[in-house]
Amino acid sequence: MAEAGELEVAPAGAVAGELSVPGDKSISHRAVMVGALTSGTVSVTGFGASADTLATVDAFRAMGVAVERDGDDRLSIEGVGMRGLRPPDGPIDVRNAGTLMRILPGILAGQTGTFTLDGDDSIRRRPMARIAEPLGRMGVDVETHDGLPPVTVHANGEVEPITYRPPVASAQVKSAVLFAGLFAGRGVTVVEEAIATRDHTERMLQRAGVPVDRRPGRVSVSPVRDLDLPEIAVPGDFSSAAPFIAAATILQGSNLTLRDVSINPTRTGMLTVLERMGGRVGVFRRRLSAGEPVADIEVRPAELVAADIEPEIIPALIDELPLLVLLAAFARGTTTIHGAGELRVKESDRIASVVELLNECGAHVRALEDGFEVLGVPHRLRGGRVDAAGDHRIAMLGAVAGVCSQEGVTISGADALAVSFPDFAERLAAVSA
Ligand code: S3P
Repeated sequence: MAEAGELEVAPAGAVAGELSVPGDKSISHRAVMVGALTSGTVSVTGFGASADTLATVDAFRAMGVAVERDGDDRLSIEGVGMRGLRPPDGPIDVRNAGTLMRILPGILAGQTGTFTLDGDDSIRRRPMARIAEPLGRMGVDVETHDGLPPVTVHANGEVEPITYRPPVASAQVKSAVLFAGLFAGRGVTVVEEAIATRDHTERMLQRAGVPVDRRPGRVSVSPVRDLDLPEIAVPGDFSSAAPFIAAATILQGSNLTLRDVSINPTRTGMLTVLERMGGRVGVFRRRLSAGEPVADIEVRPAELVAADIEPEIIPALIDELPLLVLLAAFARGTTTIHGAGELRVKESDRIASVVELLNECGAHVRALEDGFEVLGVPHRLRGGRVDAAGDHRIAMLGAVAGVCSQEGVTISGADALAVSFPDFAERLAAVSA
């Protein structure tokens, strides 16, 4: 019997059938943020309701924004205008949501008053100097505790434009600077990126009427008085589809179709690498939905070969790296992954937690300072008892390892799944055969 917070995942011969996944987490956060800043009613469909995105809903409610939920995946947001957010009575609790913690200060830059953001124990270990520094250069008073949360923004609505090259590849940092740039007098705010990161903020702001100029390695925004975006349709989250793609690739009887998934190229680096490894993934019915590329994804099992994963592609697969390490554990040869040091400051130290979990299940993975070395063995993992390390992506990794194991995997702390995909275990069970 599983104990509270434990998930037992039995071995499976295949994952098969059709599946849809919850709305994209990154886009859902941004839908609430942009919706709150408009001057009208914004209707959001396909919202990915999870602990993280609901923390964003609650944060904006606490700042005076009326957000109504209709069922699980629809929201109606009454925007308060660009500068209409009010400081709540106490600190804003971002819980486990790094995206909220890092982007919100950029939005608060244009408001008036003092706003404090705090969160759970994991959030309190995540670096915040990376946003305090550029916002400080924009004239915004952002206080941290030695670079860590709580974060306090003393806002007077005045923002200077800057040209900024973030020292780490981070869409959260880029987004905080771009949002702050919306309030920057008449000046243009520029973010230069050595390696492209996810571009959902740029796409959504552009749809909302912001003059956004996009060139290779560079994006800029000009300030606006109003945002206007009556409808936002959120596509399925590629990061939530990824565990199923991994399982269907490894389990030899599989045949799985994932419907309506975001295939934004800044997110699908896993497919590029999987193709190099011999994976058999088809992308069909490509279309554009609300400014984001969407498709159906069909996955067949494959015999994988090792690959080297280079730093240039890391931002496009950052949240899928734990699963790529699992795939590499089944591939013939040795896979190396470099340039992924950012994993050490995610919800857990994901280099340490991935190595511990997979080796506990019988894999041969070595931690590098900025990545992994994986010795692939093309047969089932043994299985075992693992811990999610308080991290939703590690819990998902454990579950996929479980279906691909001989003896099953028991995951403690599996309640972390609620952070991005509350009914993940049920959906995995439904397609497992
Ligand atoms: C996110 C950006 C990435 C990603 C996170 C979501 C976003 O983080 O890992 O899950 O929505 O902007 P970084 O900006 O720290 O790379």
